[in-house]
Amino acid sequence: MVKFVGIAGSLRPNSYSQMALGLTCDRLRALGAEVELLDLREMDLPLCHGGKEYPDHPDVERLRQAFLEADGFVLVTPEYHGSVSGVLKNALDLMSFDQLDGKVAGMISILGGQSNSNALNHLRTLNG
Ligand SMILES: Cc1cc2nc3c(=O)[nH]c(=O)nc-3n(C[C@H](O)[C@H](O)[C@H](O)COP(=O)(O)O)c2cc1C
Repeated sequence: MVKFVGIAGSLRPNSYSQMALGLTCDRLRALGAEVELLDLREMDLPLCHGGKEYPDHPDVERLRQAFLEADGFVLVTPEYHGSVSGVLKNALDLMSFDQLDGKVAGMISILGGQSNSNALNHLRTLNG
């Protein structure tokens, strides 16, 4: 079975990004995929320090393992100041090519202002 993992870069209680992720994951499941939704609001992820090991933060390994095992992933970002949220960027910074490269990627951006694709375009150009 095809495996997907999904994360959304908003920590807000009633986040539209998290809602969009939930709906997308439901749709993928309905299409027959196995989907793991990781809610970053419930995970203890430190700021990326550029090193590999985060022994005091086992959720880093949980995040990495889920992405490593997945065939594809869904990323949802709120638009913050015209770009990807720091929460999502940091989660991606905690991973590497091993987890992100060569996979199917679905991307969604949520914003409060006039409709545009700025954050989405920035998300697309982040390197695996
Ligand atoms: C720090 C910050 C920066 C934001 N910058 C933008 C922006 O540049 N453009 C925009 O349309 N909305 C902006 N917004 C509004 C959010 O994109 C909007 O509220 C969105 O729903 C937030 O996502 P969430 O519902 O998943 O928390 C910003 C919100 C915050 C908190």
